[in-house]
Amino acid sequence: MLGLSVGMLVCSCGDKPSTEKSTSSTVKKADQSKTKSNQKVSKRDNKIPKDQLRRAKEVIANASKESLAGVGGKKIYLASCASCHGSSGMLSMNGATKLKDAKGSLEENVAQIYHGKGMMTAFRGILKDDEIVAVAKFIEVLR
Ligand code: HEC
Repeated sequence: MLGLSVGMLVCSCGDKPSTEKSTSSTVKKADQSKTKSNQKVSKRDNKIPKDQLRRAKEVIANASKESLAGVGGKKIYLASCASCHGSSGMLSMNGATKLKDAKGSLEENVAQIYHGKGMMTAFRGILKDDEIVAVAKFIEVLR
């Protein structure tokens, strides 16, 4: 309310609106950075569709301990994921989530890797189910 009426006053005299404008835009910027840091703290907000989670459960169930033992999650991560997420999950190339700060469950992560999302590649057909589970377990270690 106050900001609005000040703005209107400035507009009606028309002499030096520039200083008033820059103050109000500084306030806006501060507000934006506040919301950004809030988002960082908040839990995963982009919900994964239920059918994708169901498929993820099957993929996890199919990966036995024995089959996982032979699969190096780290190796897969460095080869397939580090280009966007960084070698230790600190990068966010192409808008990638910083995996260091990610809080998704194993199922959510398997679903995301399997089906892809936004700019992220779907790894179904590129990585075997075992490999997807192995790399999903590996990224939990980065946190
Ligand atoms: C081409 C770049 C790219 C590659 C390669 C990539 N990602 Fe991503 N990743 C993204 C982007 C972009 C997002 C955010 C997608 C969105 O929410 O719209 C993301 C999000 C994620 C998330 C969700 C994090 C969360 O909690 O929201 C996980 C988990 C993830 N990636 C794991 C991986 C793994 C594991 C690999 C390798 C198998 C990988 N990514 C390869 C770009 C990439």
